[in-house]
Amino acid sequence: MRAGSDDYRDSGLVFPEGFTFGSATASYQVEGAAQEDGRLPSIWDTFSMTPGRVWNGDTGDVACDHYHRWESDLDLMKDLGLDAYRFSIAWPRIVPAGTGAVNQAGIDFYSRLVDGLLERGIRPVATLYHWDLPQPLEDAGGWPVRATADAFERYAEIMGAALGDRIHTWTTLNEPWCSAYLGYGQGGHAPGRAEPAAALAAVHHLNLAHGRAVQALRATSTGDPEYSVTLNFHVARGRGPQAAEAVRRVEALANRAFTGPMLRGEYPADLLEDTASVTDWSFVQDGDLEAIHQPIDVLGVNYYSTVTAQLWDGVSPRQMNDGHKAVAGGTAWPGSDGVLEFLEQPGPYTAMGWNIAPEGLEELLLSLREQFPDQALMVTENGAAFDDEVADDGSVPDPERLDYLRRHFTAAHRAMQQGVDLRGYFVWSLLDNFEWGYGYAKRFGIVRVDFDTLERTVKQSGEWYARLAKTGTIPE
Ligand code: FCB
Repeated sequence: MRAGSDDYRDSGLVFPEGFTFGSATASYQVEGAAQEDGRLPSIWDTFSMTPGRVWNGDTGDVACDHYHRWESDLDLMKDLGLDAYRFSIAWPRIVPAGTGAVNQAGIDFYSRLVDGLLERGIRPVATLYHWDLPQPLEDAGGWPVRATADAFERYAEIMGAALGDRIHTWTTLNEPWCSAYLGYGQGGHAPGRAEPAAALAAVHHLNLAHGRAVQALRATSTGDPEYSVTLNFHVARGRGPQAAEAVRRVEALANRAFTGPMLRGEYPADLLEDTASVTDWSFVQDGDLEAIHQPIDVLGVNYYSTVTAQLWDGVSPRQMNDGHKAVAGGTAWPGSDGVLEFLEQPGPYTAMGWNIAPEGLEELLLSLREQFPDQALMVTENGAAFDDEVADDGSVPDPERLDYLRRHFTAAHRAMQQGVDLRGYFVWSLLDNFEWGYGYAKRFGIVRVDFDTLERTVKQSGEWYARLAKTGTIPE
């Protein structure tokens, strides 16, 4: 089937009653106010201020100024008819030094935000960690050290007690794959370290942080929230004589390194073998796997595109990085460096260079249902960057993004028709924002942000999504 094929372009499809239509953002990408009300630097402040790390030297200092404009942003969400808002809480606003003093002003901000959502009939879906680790915790070793998981557990306790009476869904981590492998292996994300063994230690401590946080949130939340984690699954295709082995390796490092301990209570044996030359996994202590293996209500799925990998029996001279978020250096695939090569995908592409493959989303949802039959799923991110142009009348026609979304909603609907228990869908992103290493160069919003005036304009895709959210039917 061709990637851009009309098979994934249905209008008129109806989603079931109660299906959640939402939109997502993350603290460092939208809030700004980086030095206000007691917030101290996170690893992304440090990274973005390091010359050469982020496109154009962009930082999240101002971003979308959501910290000051949250009320009108919530009004906008209400106008769009969103059922839910997935946002993240900035750890450095809550426990600015990572350990020690709690900053009430930070808690108050999110408390007002949550009340504002509830007043507008929008369900709060809060992520505790979308990559903004307090810098002092990185200075003390970061995710490769166990104490970071201890500090995260305390932060989860604080947030459970503060907001656990009102949050609809708690999400512990966003895409630990990126935090571990891009942050500590490949180095294209903060803190920018390229140390394969540290990346695997980070994988484990992120898993541990997830399990401990679920327990801490459960113990402190007085409402009846749902619990979740968001993973960015790799939908892999293999090439060459060892295609199946290439896929197996990618899935072990990218997917099963997280679903294994979180959902089955074990690290996959093949993952431990693949990485044996890098680490002996002795950082896994007695009781850790039980702590990590906590029941969750929904599994968050982020999906943008597919990857194609080839295995070279350790002789390839080529650079092995997954181009997904990559910039340069290191490896996002510890233990498979020099073995796995990521090949260019067939188009069409978004402005990120990511291939558009809605069938990958259908395939992923079906595969998760097969692997974890009783686990409800939620698409917590899907969307596309394109180089939008503002029309003379001030409107923002973005037919490519609209088409991308239509195809992916169609794919999700198909998966549901085949029995997948998909509860909802969050478009990435509500607003154009700080796209990590790409700064403000890549626009994912269904709402345009003019970064000079900070003015918001709903794009054509936003109007389209509002019709979908309000009617539950994929519009023309
Ligand atoms: C995901 C991130 C999100 C955003 C999108 C485009 O990996 O979770 O913050 O950058 O990609």
